[in-house]
Amino acid sequence: MMKKFNKSLLCLSIGVSITLAGCGSVNNKVMPEPVNSAVVSQIIWHDNKAEMDQFINELMAKMTLQEKIGQLNLLTSGWDKTGPTMSDDYQEQIKLGKVGSIFNAFTADYTRGLQKLAVEETRLGIPLLFGYDVIHGHRTIFPISLGEAASWDMQAIQDGSRVAATEAAAEGIHWTFAPMVDISRDPRWGRMSEGSGEDVFLGTAIARARVKGFQGDDLAATDTVLACAKHYAAYGAAQAGRDYHTTNMSTRELWDTYLPPFEAAVQEGVATFMTSFNELNGVPASGSEYLLDDILKQRWGFEGFVVTDYTSINEMVPHGYAKDLKHAAQLAINAGVDMDMQGSAYSDNLQQLLNEGKVSQAKIDQAVRRILEMKYRLGLFDDPYRYSDNDRQKAEIYKQDHLDAARDMARKSFVLLKNDNKVLPLSDKKSIALIGPLADSKQDMIGSWSAAGERWKRPVTVLEGLKARFGDKLKINYAKGAGYEFDHTDTTGFKDAIAAAKKSDVVVLAMGEKWNMTGEAASRVDLGFPGTQLALMKELKKLGKPMVLVLMSGRAMNLSWADDNVDAILDVWYPGTEGGHAVADVLYGDYNPSGKLPVTFPRSVGQVPIYYNMKNTGRPYDPQGAEQKYRSRYLDSPNSPLYPFGYGLSYTHFDFSEVSLSNSKLDPQGSIKASVVVTNSGDTDGEEVVQLYVQDLVGSVTRPVKELKGFKKIHLRRGESKEVIFTLTPQDLAFHRIDMSYGAEAGDFNLYIGNSSDTTNKVSFSLSADVDLLAANPAD
Ligand code: NOJ
Repeated sequence: MMKKFNKSLLCLSIGVSITLAGCGSVNNKVMPEPVNSAVVSQIIWHDNKAEMDQFINELMAKMTLQEKIGQLNLLTSGWDKTGPTMSDDYQEQIKLGKVGSIFNAFTADYTRGLQKLAVEETRLGIPLLFGYDVIHGHRTIFPISLGEAASWDMQAIQDGSRVAATEAAAEGIHWTFAPMVDISRDPRWGRMSEGSGEDVFLGTAIARARVKGFQGDDLAATDTVLACAKHYAAYGAAQAGRDYHTTNMSTRELWDTYLPPFEAAVQEGVATFMTSFNELNGVPASGSEYLLDDILKQRWGFEGFVVTDYTSINEMVPHGYAKDLKHAAQLAINAGVDMDMQGSAYSDNLQQLLNEGKVSQAKIDQAVRRILEMKYRLGLFDDPYRYSDNDRQKAEIYKQDHLDAARDMARKSFVLLKNDNKVLPLSDKKSIALIGPLADSKQDMIGSWSAAGERWKRPVTVLEGLKARFGDKLKINYAKGAGYEFDHTDTTGFKDAIAAAKKSDVVVLAMGEKWNMTGEAASRVDLGFPGTQLALMKELKKLGKPMVLVLMSGRAMNLSWADDNVDAILDVWYPGTEGGHAVADVLYGDYNPSGKLPVTFPRSVGQVPIYYNMKNTGRPYDPQGAEQKYRSRYLDSPNSPLYPFGYGLSYTHFDFSEVSLSNSKLDPQGSIKASVVVTNSGDTDGEEVVQLYVQDLVGSVTRPVKELKGFKKIHLRRGESKEVIFTLTPQDLAFHRIDMSYGAEAGDFNLYIGNSSDTTNKVSFSLSADVDLLAANPAD
């Protein structure tokens, strides 16, 4: 039987090289664009295709229409609730052959039991596919995805997904609904926490890493799972940051910013795609022939299957796009949706739609085939129970290696936003007051989408982590002090908190958002501290003690007061099962923070959406300029963010040399090298993320003020210097031009290398002639 992916055909371009060509959104092979289509076929799946085709042809020849429609139906089990509806009779439906896949079910025993119903009680015994939201860990929970993104460490991210897949696959799961690759620039949107942040280049690299981690290089191995690129497409651009809301954007923005991570996932061999809930330019994603058929299946040559999000076929009715559920089912299958998640739109309507000639047999057959192929690739026709293995489950979940990897990933994800007077690390302190609703709260440590992570039991809290690390060397005076619920107004806890602070050398505040204030259906209009947290911080400030904020959140928050008033801020996101230990590692100084923001932190919600690679406008504001009024600015706030994308401090200090270029002229077939020497001039070893940005000064359409085009995380011992070299080719300068063709335009560019998107360390170069990428290389 066909089993293997041949990964040699893939573009392996992230994390391992500082060469820009071939990496991320500027992949030099092909960038399909709306004018001249170009195909990125998933030939990676073609080993033993003939054998698989024969097997599926024979199977499909035996299937009735009802059995085929059953394969297109995905229902939730009662084990977990991740949407508004439940299916009480899913076991009955399995026995009737009316469901081909189940989600929200895990453990070897439970999945084995359900699989038995499909295999033994249906006519053809076609095995079920089990899906689950294994987003940032399965049992061992890693930091939330946005936190992982802050590590800028592609290998660690890939390894994290590998661990998640290994644990999930041991508990009967074949398929994860991850990675979420939506670019998001609006922190009001709670789902910012589930992705990689605001940037297309970073997001694309992370999409690749996660697909590789989940799927490995052999889908039939029992420690890999099918990945799912979601939510396709442009879900992260919901108007006003309100979840499920309308998305409107130009085709160019869609292609240059929102689609590249999805395309990269296809190139990486992702097995499935999930449609998004939103409408895009008037058409709900689950009914969009443009997105599903034209772009995904035709232009990109995606050969896996497309599943909807939860009841999103049904939602085309309230969207005002379908007149009833039958009409919605017709629109969805004809647009290219293969599997219906929890909506029963296909199971209730496809037969009639076929009879009426509104849907063709060929459409239904194509969808069935795509799904059966994945079951085949997983080896389920050889052994339907191969993932439901009690011994493997026992051996794999919470394995020490996994816990260690989660702790390490957590440390890497923390971003030090402020550290005045070197208040951190705390190793020389005798006593601390640990204060806040997040200081000793297991449930909060693992954030939203925590899969099977046993929220109430397993996670290590900050208090537990500090006690374990500091032992008797540190007196910890703990008080919860404040509440973080939106409606919490009770201040009686302040007294204990103030008393704890008074008897301590330093105040450590564990504050931020409750875990379920981010994730799905968790939009906010206020990015401040909910409940009485800020009020308590203000009271504590009056004591004049050094204050450290350990921030937990799944979005960019408004930290303006904290930035003005506390001495140090460490953003730890939701750090996962081992989070408390990781926080202690960093607070104590065992680990030197190295994370960098994957999203811009605004000064106020009024600046949102705010992101680093904005356009300049015709009246850019210059605070030093003579003209102040008729400029693009706010009267009551600077334009600049509180903390820019790519920003993050260290316990040591890094100096950057000026940028040197191998040549200031880049030819169409050539490349140039840009380099800096980075020196660790502080007094501890540390890691730095060296970032390269480009600005195209004049274009046939206006270009952003800066675009990330490369990064490299380096380790430098104290006193050590290293040269970091990037190679730049015309492909790295490509975009969708005025006629929507993809290529680079001759002209002048600025190139920056630094340790944050606000770097001013600049040189200039020029590209000598236009480069038409698709014309030059149309079907590579
Ligand atoms: C809805 C969410 O939008 C999606 O991300 C998730 O995978 C599904 N529910 C299944 O739980």
